[in-house]
Amino acid sequence: YLKTSDMDQGSLTPHVLIFPLPLQGPVNSMFKLAELLCLSGLNVTFLVTEHIHGRLLRYTDIQSRFVRYRGFRLETISDGLEEDHPRGDRFMELFDSLKYKTKPLFRELLTSGRLNSEARGPVTCVIADGIMGFTGDVASEIGVPFVYSRTISACCLWVFFCLPKLIESGELPFAGDDLDTPIKSIRGMENFLRRRDLPSFCRTGDLSHPSIQLYKTESQENPRAHGLILNTFDDLEGPICSEIRALCPNLYTIGPLHSHLKSKLSGTTTTTSSDTSSSSLWKEDRSCITWLDAQPSKSVIYISFGSLAVLTWDQLMEFWHGVINSKTRFLWVIRPDSVAGGDWETRIPAEISQGTKEKGYIVGWAPQEEVLAHQAVGGFLTHSGWNSTLESVIEGVPMICWPYFMDQQVNSRFVGEAWRLGLDMKDACDRVIVEEMLKDLMETRKDEFIKRADEMANLARKSLAEGGSSYCNLDRLIKDIKSMSQ
Ligand code: UDX
Repeated sequence: YLKTSDMDQGSLTPHVLIFPLPLQGPVNSMFKLAELLCLSGLNVTFLVTEHIHGRLLRYTDIQSRFVRYRGFRLETISDGLEEDHPRGDRFMELFDSLKYKTKPLFRELLTSGRLNSEARGPVTCVIADGIMGFTGDVASEIGVPFVYSRTISACCLWVFFCLPKLIESGELPFAGDDLDTPIKSIRGMENFLRRRDLPSFCRTGDLSHPSIQLYKTESQENPRAHGLILNTFDDLEGPICSEIRALCPNLYTIGPLHSHLKSKLSGTTTTTSSDTSSSSLWKEDRSCITWLDAQPSKSVIYISFGSLAVLTWDQLMEFWHGVINSKTRFLWVIRPDSVAGGDWETRIPAEISQGTKEKGYIVGWAPQEEVLAHQAVGGFLTHSGWNSTLESVIEGVPMICWPYFMDQQVNSRFVGEAWRLGLDMKDACDRVIVEEMLKDLMETRKDEFIKRADEMANLARKSLAEGGSSYCNLDRLIKDIKSMSQ
C-alpha cells in the first residue's frame, strides 16, 4: 500500500492536519479520509482528543494499522474535560469545552512547530469538522488554509443551514404537539419534511436551546472555508448538494468514505476482514461473524443503535418482544452503556431469553461494516446515524429506521420516503409495529426493498469507480490541497 510522494522532487509534500469531532462516527470516517490522503502521498497528522486516543489504544491495533503509511502521524490534544466526565450523552458540554479550552491548545499546537520534523514541513492545510468553527478561526489567524468536513448527510446539513429561514418564517419554534405539520421554508424540500423530521432539538420549543444556537451559528461559519468535504455521493444527494453549493460553492462529495478507501486499497468495494481499518471505541466481538456464517442468505436483521443512543428499559422490551414475535433471526448490538439503569442481562424475562437463544445473537460491539457486507444479513434496524446509513446503502441492505436524535430524524425521512430504501419507524416504539415492520422488510416486501437497495448500492459503487463523481471529487480535493500547499 505504500506509495511515495508524487510531488515534484524539491517541492514540499503537503502536510494536512485532520481534526475530527471526537465521536465514533466522525472519527471513523475521518480516519478513512486520512488513509486516502496518505495513499496519494500526502503527509497527514491525525489529531484526536486524549480521551479518544485512550480508547483507540485500548480497543484497536491502530498503531500497526498506520505503520503502512509513511506520511501518517497520530497526535493528541485535550478536550478540556476530566477523564471520567460523561461525553456520549452530554455532548453540549463537550462542544463548549472544545470551543473554549481546546481552542488555545490547538493554536499552540499549530504555532509551536511541534508538528514539524526534518521529514515533514509545517502544516499546510487544516481539515476539521465544520461544527468546530474555532479550528477555522485559528487557521485563519495564523494563515493556514482550511477546509471543513461535515460527517452528517447533506440533507441534514441543509436543514441546519436553513435554521435561520425556519425561524424567520415562524415555523420554528413550535410546541411539541402536531408533529405532522409540513415544513415549507426549506428550499428544495418544501412540504417534504414534517415537524417530526426536523433535527430532534427543534422540538424543544425554545430558540435559545444550546443545540439550536450551536448548529445555527456554527453551520453559518462553514462558507468561510476554502471548501467543504461531505461524506456522501451525488446520485444519493445531488439535488440537496446543489442547494448547499449556493452557500459553499466548493463542495467535495467523496463518500461513502469507508468504501472509497476499500476501493482504492483493493480495486473493489467488497469488504473482507483483513482490509478494513477499525477505529472502534469499543471492543469488537468477532464471534458474531461465525454465528452469521451459519445463517441462511439474507435471513438476519442486524440491530444496532450506534454509539450514543441509550434505550429505556421499556423501549428495550418493546423492541425485543417485537423482534421475537416476528420470528426473524437477529444479530443485536447492545453496548454496555446503552440501556438506562444498566445491568440489563439479569433483568431479561424468561420468554424472550428463550426466543433469543433460538433465533438471535447479541454482542456488545460488532465489526459493523463486515456484518452489513455479510451474505446472511437481509436488513438493518438502525438509529439512522449517517455512517450506519451509508454503510447499509453501499452493501444494499434495506433499513428500518428508529432515529434517536439530532440528524437522525432527517436521515430516516430520506431513507423511507425519498430514497425508498426502507421503513421509517420514527416516534413509535411498540412491539406490534416492530413485528409488522420486520415482517414487511424481511418477508412481504423483501424483494421490492432489496431491488431498490441494490440499485442504490450500484450507484454508490459507480461513484467510487474511476471517473465516478466521488472518485473525481477526491482527485480534485487532493489537487487543491497540493496547490494550497505551495
Ligand atoms: C451520531 C450520529 O448519528 C451521526 O449521524 C453523527 O454524524 C454523529 O453522531 P453514531 O451514533 O456514532 O453517530 O452513529 P453513526 O454515524 O452511524 O456511526 C456509528 C459508527 O460505529 C459506524 O461507523 C458503525 O460502523 C460503527 N459501529 C456501530 C461499529 O463498528 N460497531 C457497532 O457495533 C456499532
